[in-house]
Amino acid sequence: MNEKLRLGINIDHVATVRNARGGDHPDPLRAAKIAEGAGADGITAHLREDRRHIRDDDITRLMEEIALPLNLEMAATDEMLAIALRHGPHAACIVPERREERTTEGGLDAAGSMERLGPIVSRLGERGVRVSLFIEADRRQLDAAVTLGAPVVELHTGRFCDLGREGDMAGAEAERKRIAEMALYGASAGLEVHAGHGLGYDNVGPIASIAQIRELNIGHYLIGEAIFIGLSDSIAEMRRLMVEARSKAGAAA
Ligand code: PXP
Repeated sequence: MNEKLRLGINIDHVATVRNARGGDHPDPLRAAKIAEGAGADGITAHLREDRRHIRDDDITRLMEEIALPLNLEMAATDEMLAIALRHGPHAACIVPERREERTTEGGLDAAGSMERLGPIVSRLGERGVRVSLFIEADRRQLDAAVTLGAPVVELHTGRFCDLGREGDMAGAEAERKRIAEMALYGASAGLEVHAGHGLGYDNVGPIASIAQIRELNIGHYLIGEAIFIGLSDSIAEMRRLMVEARSKAGAAA
């Protein structure tokens, strides 16, 4: 039987639109409240080093005013660690961050940065923050997550999404298979497995149907779709597609 698949809504790009003009509108906190009302299971926000979308006061307000669990995406820096320890969000997802990138490109090299990550993972864990590592679906990276004692990994679905949208369906299927195999590998090793990046209505099904994946974090597509149909409806449609994919997979199992 399939476990429920949670849906975390990434509200970064509400802040992107706000920051394009300065000021307070549209407010990511209002988007988080709408997501809460639309049945989201969590809110995700990435406080980047350059504050290009989410700002420090957004995190403060989300912590104070949202009942849903907050997943703070953060780079493995001393500054971000101090911020995460101060707020104590439900979860922190450690992501790689390069200033010049448009969005998070590629997963964290956990295996190659054990010394840097070790104290960050343990200090967050001691503070009661559920630590997740955003990694490629790769055995070495999953093994590193286990060694580091991170309870959660989020598998990067960006490559799967890019290949499918470029029309390379065989490549996308091979990537989906790799994600499914590594989700099983990670879950067997005791990790809670999440996935995200690039997901939309067109490609959420094949990922949502992977039984070991417990949570999807989705942002850009939903915020874009909200321009046309509103945020509640865009979230509701994503949820419908996730439930449909999950129940079809359950029926086929
Ligand atoms: N998960 C992680 C770790 C991310 O960094 C992002 C993008 O900020 C997402 C999920 C959401 O990706 P998208 O905005 O493409 O849905």
